[in-house]
Amino acid sequence: MSDSWWRSAVIYQVYPRSFADANGDGVGDLPGIRSRLPYLRDLGVDAVWLSPFYLSPQADAGYDVADYRVVDPLFGTVDDARGLVTDAHELGLRVIVDLVPNHSSDQHEWFKQALREGPGSPLRERYHFRDGRGDLPPNDWPSIFGGPAWTRVPDGQWYLHLFAPEQPDFNWDHPAVADEFRTILRFWLDLGVDGFRIDVAHGLVKEAGLPDLGHQTEWHLLDVGESPCFDRDGVHEIYRSWRRILDEYPGERIAVAEAWAPTLDRVADYVRPDELHQAFNFSYLATPWEPAAQRAMIDASLAAMSRVGAPTTWTLSNHDVVRHTNRLMQDLSGDVAGRRSTEVDPVAGLRRARAASLLLLALPGSAYLYQGEELGLPEVVDLPPEVRQDPAFHRATGQDGYRDGCRVPLPWSGSTAPYGFGPDGAPCWLPQPDSWAALSVEAQDGDPGSTLTMYRDALALRRKLLTGDTLTWRDAPAGMLILDRGPGFRCTVNMGAAPVRLTPPGELLLASGEIGGTPDEIELPPDTTVWWQI
Ligand code: BGC
Repeated sequence: MSDSWWRSAVIYQVYPRSFADANGDGVGDLPGIRSRLPYLRDLGVDAVWLSPFYLSPQADAGYDVADYRVVDPLFGTVDDARGLVTDAHELGLRVIVDLVPNHSSDQHEWFKQALREGPGSPLRERYHFRDGRGDLPPNDWPSIFGGPAWTRVPDGQWYLHLFAPEQPDFNWDHPAVADEFRTILRFWLDLGVDGFRIDVAHGLVKEAGLPDLGHQTEWHLLDVGESPCFDRDGVHEIYRSWRRILDEYPGERIAVAEAWAPTLDRVADYVRPDELHQAFNFSYLATPWEPAAQRAMIDASLAAMSRVGAPTTWTLSNHDVVRHTNRLMQDLSGDVAGRRSTEVDPVAGLRRARAASLLLLALPGSAYLYQGEELGLPEVVDLPPEVRQDPAFHRATGQDGYRDGCRVPLPWSGSTAPYGFGPDGAPCWLPQPDSWAALSVEAQDGDPGSTLTMYRDALALRRKLLTGDTLTWRDAPAGMLILDRGPGFRCTVNMGAAPVRLTPPGELLLASGEIGGTPDEIELPPDTTVWWQI
């Protein structure tokens, strides 16, 4: 494995509860993931990022951690985690785990102690406990999941939670919090993990005094703007200390920030040479499928990250946003996550998603894929309220209340649910649609026209041909983008509504859809991307 593997790595997000279920309880688990690692090796990814699998009451699907060094029995044991990492390494895959430092679960021992000890206790200082203003909370901050960011405890004090009430925010000014997370990092590094995805990396430090906003607002995970509790300068000192720890370990262990900052330059601050390695490029995720917007965002992303010498990352889907099979078909103004997602024409949605994925995989930097996108899974938009589990769904104006639709368990094989997700009989924690038999891994395996085959081919070609860091734009007809990567590789994308005729620039390597025309003049249909050797 070469140095700086992460600069161009393709990293696949596994959402453990929805990937593969070994014990038949309807929820995915670590042994299930372990059994499917060869699938990920064959897909051609470099690394796997696992969303949280730690001890948790699951108030926010594991992003509410009660013990950072224990695996939740729902998912297995620490030995399962160790075995998973060992197996992955034997297959040439790296493993990145999620770290949730902004908040714990309300069932974390520290929080339970703080509640027991009462007002004035030093144990309350590891969280943000305050007296209220009469019957009102200490300030006017809203929770990202809806309602106020404060909950009152029986002794009258309030505690801060930027997310659900079951997720109290740590006070990062307290040295015990910083010490604790340094030892948690070492625990997982010692176990062999290759890095961390830092949850809410922009949220740890709050402005001193927790000042009022002074106006009514809603905070969205994807759009927090300027605020007293996000992207404060103080977070960077934390990441410098973490970088020193990561650098003590052999093999280039990395950290990737989930940092929603107001500008790309502010995001780049998280990946300065002495801080974290990568940051998610949510600005790109939120860019409409339109050539001028895409080109401008690609250029701006590359420029911002190169200023600090970091690779750019690219992603189109994750467990918090509507799958790009649906999202790219929608008008996203004011709704970058696509949370008001509705049904879209599945054929058109998949065509566009495939074109977008091939464009993304042609870009220089590191690509993050979300489980199931290689199968072209659509967002599930018709889950009945009684099966939904996203905590925000059940809180009046919660902005992220529609995240269940991208979390439905994967279809692996067979013609009826659970489609090989787990042993027959146990219903999945979220029901799979009846139409998913045709989308299963088994159904797509070996089919030259399947989305799975396209991803496998793309990842193999990328590994072989797409090594350079340079991107050069070529003149393109209206509606199109044409880019070259290093010598010998060209990517053409038709984002327009009409087919475009062009002379093939070289040998066709891979196409996201059917190509028409003749060998001398091909016809590129709308929403189609082609890779060429030139
Ligand atoms: C995670 C979400 C989670 C939130 C609170 C996010 O950024 O990706 O799934 O609900 O942090 O931990």
